Amino acid sequence: TPTAQDRPGEHELVVVANRLPVDSRTLPDGATEWVTSPGGLVTAMESVMRTVDSGAWVGWAGSPGEAPAPFEADGMSLYPVPLDQIDVERYYEGYSNGTLWPLYHDVIVDPEFHRGWWDTYLSANRRFAEVAAPVAAPGGTIWVHDYQLQLVPRLIRDRRSDVRIGFFNHIPFPPVELFSQLPKRNSILRGLLGADLVGFQRESDSLNFLSAVRKLLGLHVDGMTISVPGIGAAPVREVVVQTFPISIDSAAVSALTEDPGIRERATQLRRDLGDPQRIVLGADRLDYTKGIRHRLKAWGELLDDGSIDPHDTVMIQIATPSRERVEAYQQLRDEVELTVGRINGEHAPLGRPAVSYQHHSFDRREMTALFMAADVVLVTALRDGMNLVAKEYIASRPDLQGVLVLSEFAGAADELRAAVLVNPHDIDELKAAILRSLAMPPEEQEEAMRSLRHQVMEHDVQLWAKEFLERLTATGSPQVAAVQA
Ligand code: G6P
Repeated sequence: TPTAQDRPGEHELVVVANRLPVDSRTLPDGATEWVTSPGGLVTAMESVMRTVDSGAWVGWAGSPGEAPAPFEADGMSLYPVPLDQIDVERYYEGYSNGTLWPLYHDVIVDPEFHRGWWDTYLSANRRFAEVAAPVAAPGGTIWVHDYQLQLVPRLIRDRRSDVRIGFFNHIPFPPVELFSQLPKRNSILRGLLGADLVGFQRESDSLNFLSAVRKLLGLHVDGMTISVPGIGAAPVREVVVQTFPISIDSAAVSALTEDPGIRERATQLRRDLGDPQRIVLGADRLDYTKGIRHRLKAWGELLDDGSIDPHDTVMIQIATPSRERVEAYQQLRDEVELTVGRINGEHAPLGRPAVSYQHHSFDRREMTALFMAADVVLVTALRDGMNLVAKEYIASRPDLQGVLVLSEFAGAADELRAAVLVNPHDIDELKAAILRSLAMPPEEQEEAMRSLRHQVMEHDVQLWAKEFLERLTATGSPQVAAVQA
């Protein structure tokens, strides 16, 4: 229901995402500690927002309960949105990560549909809209992010007819045959169509969305533009759909490789692992979409059949804890840890691992050292919106050495054609790709890495944000349309 126009705030650009760029944690002595939030969304948007004047970020501070008061950090204003325990269970763990996440990632695990989860998704989306709407300056821009907040564009439009609204989906948008399973699917589409511009990672995501809008809502689509009829006497609005593959702060990542402390750390890492000839790295949130099981299966078989000698080749698998109260994630953790234990039990030389498994997060400096030390990085996602680990590895290799094995099911595969592309479901193909990468001569590595770096250094996240925001500015604002009508 439309509410009275909120009084405008002062921020020209307002980002709305489920998480703030920092998570609050309560220490045993009751003090609050702030740590960087997990995931690709924050990795990308944080560096964009640092360069914006008068920017605001609306999001959840990562723990249930009362929200902290708005505060300033890194030159932007942070507006925390409160989520209570029920919201966390039904909106975040439930509808967002038990329904939408698996459905949008090709049903790698079964999505669950519960009516109570939907009700809370709606009420939580309302709360984000209520916090965000009054923060934007008159005629300002509100940029809503990701699958947790698909109803927010429309909810904001009901409150603020003067602002431009953009939406970007960081994860895939599924084919209409899968999307159609979703109860309340039309409400999701109408929520998204509250935006002036809806952006996706891959061309296939944009096309999937357009075909859902056409088939399920019966709306007229002309190329990439959707005509959305106004309610009552309101004029028809045009919503533009476009593909914007996200990236990283490439120059900043590349520059870290010059840092003497990080260089030393990269050398130290190799020494700590017993100076193996080759280091192979996987670094993911512990998520079933990342294909960690497939990777370990391939690795275990390569050790079993003697193609890899654990005395000279070590695998590091970083699995950042994620969504730990959701059952599918608990199961995945058990399976991964059982497999790693088995592989090490059978193959690790005394006193050093065959797979060095790390179930915690690493900061940016430590990650750069790992990328510098890694001869091969394995990105074997079964489905992934983009995968920024792939781009971070490339940005960390100005020496033009190292090989990226990349799943064709990650969005990054559209751009990073010079990677060793694989179908991770084909374990034999994956094994062959790993062996080929380990044996790749330096000149061949250099040629591939040069081409990959060209792509990643030229197309950084600043350019991505600039292109999105310029396209958004070029869409007709609803007020202008109303005056003309
Ligand atoms: C992905 C999603 C983000 C999410 C992140 C971390 O990158 O696209 O929206 O924030 O994962 O997941 P979490 O559930 O911990 O926020």
